[in-house]
Amino acid sequence: MKKILTVVGTRPNFVKIAPFHNALRKYSERVNHIVCHTGQHFDEKMSGVFLEELEMPKPDYNLGISGGSHAKQTAQIMMEFERVLHDEHPDLVVVPGDVNSTLACSLVAAKLGVKLAHIESGLRSFNREMPEEINRIVTDALADYLFVSEPSGIENLRKEGVPDDRIFYVGNIMIDSLTSFLDKIKNEQAHTSFGLKDRDYILVTFHRPSNVDNSGQLRKLVDFLSRLSRNENLIFPVHPRTRANIRNFGLGQFLDPKIKRTEPLGYVSFLSLVRNSKLIITDSGGIQEECTFLGIPCITVREDTERPVTVSEGTNYLAGTDVDRLDEIIYEALANPKKGQIPKYWDGNTAERIVEIILKPNRQNVQSRD
Ligand code: UD1
Repeated sequence: MKKILTVVGTRPNFVKIAPFHNALRKYSERVNHIVCHTGQHFDEKMSGVFLEELEMPKPDYNLGISGGSHAKQTAQIMMEFERVLHDEHPDLVVVPGDVNSTLACSLVAAKLGVKLAHIESGLRSFNREMPEEINRIVTDALADYLFVSEPSGIENLRKEGVPDDRIFYVGNIMIDSLTSFLDKIKNEQAHTSFGLKDRDYILVTFHRPSNVDNSGQLRKLVDFLSRLSRNENLIFPVHPRTRANIRNFGLGQFLDPKIKRTEPLGYVSFLSLVRNSKLIITDSGGIQEECTFLGIPCITVREDTERPVTVSEGTNYLAGTDVDRLDEIIYEALANPKKGQIPKYWDGNTAERIVEIILKPNRQNVQSRD
């Protein structure tokens, strides 16, 4: 019996691991799958709701580590995760994405000589001010299986000297969740409960430190959204980091009450809002990909993206963080929206491909799949 131990820590991790867990269920006579939640996201709305909705079982471990500085959070997760590995002795540790939990658990696995698989490998923003970029680079340097979601990932890993026999171009696992919940998402019609009409509103999310930890930038965004809300219906589910900073910087008074602010939403409700909107304005990583799949124009308020296929093939516009330029780009995206196409292997079968590779001794690497 093979023992696979998967790490989750944050909301986007749950979306990436649910399909992997489901794909492994078919091999339950051969594989014991253990899930360890680091606790990085702990709010019921950021964690519990998501796990339930995505039909994940309760994690076998919850390390209960959240908040604190990057060093403190990473170090505490490492200490607790080391104990888990000593107890469980897995054959393989699987980490998704690029959050601090990904980095912490990769370091522990590699130092204990446990094989490591990274789902969503090879993405690079080439901006080390982004904490996720450091997490991605280190995790990829340590991993034995590097599962890539888009062609740029293969190129980036090759340039960093990763041998081809570790690189597997399997596609985008977030899209597995999206395709398997698509019927529910279509039925949900969440916008109507906010009094919004189909294609008659803009959905907004912000949580990147570069946008929300700096009071000047956050004030500019708040003013911009308030201005935009004079002519457009806006709905804004507010991430805990953003909510805290709006409060700490005293910016709540500048947010126009016409903007429909909500708590973080569940998976199906949120994707239903995406699907029925006319435009998204965001700084998220995953939403750029979900918009590309659903064909909804996405304005990404960042200087760079680690997901370039969403711009070259999809519906994403990389707008930069200069708030004064946003009007023009939004106007362009509404007047003449990109049609976009769905990238290769974003087909709902990524988890199956990963499981096949992990469980089969004769693994097919990137060259034979290219
Ligand atoms: C983290 C990831 C980011 C990812 C995002 C998705 C890192 C470095 N960042 O950012 O890549 O895009 O998750 O949401 O790992 N908080 C709560 N309740 C929660 C979660 C967080 O109150 O359920 C608070 C924390 O206490 C902290 C702040 O929000 O003060 C930020 O949380 P943290 O997990 O450190 O980073 P995120 O900004 O969520």
